[in-house]
Amino acid sequence: MEHKGSIRLETERLILRKLKIEDAREVYKNWASDPDVAKFMRWNEHKSIEDTMLWLAEEEKNARRKDYYTWGIQMKKTGKLIGSIGAFYREDENGRYEVGYGISKKYWNNGYTTEALRAVMDFLINEVGISKFMCMHAVENPASGAVMRKVGFEFAEDTYYESFDRKKKFASKKYYLDIEQAVELEEVV
Ligand SMILES: CC(C)(COP(=O)(O)OP(=O)(O)OC[C@H]1O[C@@H](n2cnc3c(N)ncnc32)[C@H](O)[C@@H]1OP(=O)(O)O)[C@@H](O)C(=O)NCCC(=O)NCCS
Repeated sequence: MEHKGSIRLETERLILRKLKIEDAREVYKNWASDPDVAKFMRWNEHKSIEDTMLWLAEEEKNARRKDYYTWGIQMKKTGKLIGSIGAFYREDENGRYEVGYGISKKYWNNGYTTEALRAVMDFLINEVGISKFMCMHAVENPASGAVMRKVGFEFAEDTYYESFDRKKKFASKKYYLDIEQAVELEEVV
């Protein structure tokens, strides 16, 4: 495995790049302040732009690490930032990387998250050398499960997850993607 950090990635319609403090206004307005986007996330919706600035300051710091993977999702055509996507090391899950994503409601159901996730998985598998992934989605959030399956994740078990503040708890579906399945992934990337 050779960690490379959240280097810039491109897809047909999207640019994936590190988030910066200067993105705060757009991030806040486009998705972080939206309760519908935050509903099934481990974080709560941002109540003010200061919440977003705090998060982005943390992101900027973490993004200096070569083993930290989070990207802002930007539209190639308009330059608009529409969401974020990342993969996080889970020691407590046998060293799997857990992927997570969220985009602005205005852009849902256009294939953008699937497109971004394919690029991220392709990079992490083929360039970084990560071989074990997981992903969880709330039962009430089937669109996220659809994204996972389209990218080659396979159902592993029923479980639950909690928000960071432990106030939200979701019955959920856990999915795995192992490197043995990478061949299947390549067919759709
Ligand atoms: C989940 C989310 C990331 C999906 O992003 P997206 O860009 O709309 O995803 P895509 O367009 O690539 O794919 C969505 C798929 O979900 C399907 N879908 C949408 N609503 C659905 C529903 N109610 N039931 C089942 N499938 C549904 C779509 O049909 C599509 O699948 P298809 O291409 O096979 O038709 C987006 O809704 C979001 O940001 N939600 C808020 C944050 C969040 O919940 N993140 C995931 C936490 S686990």
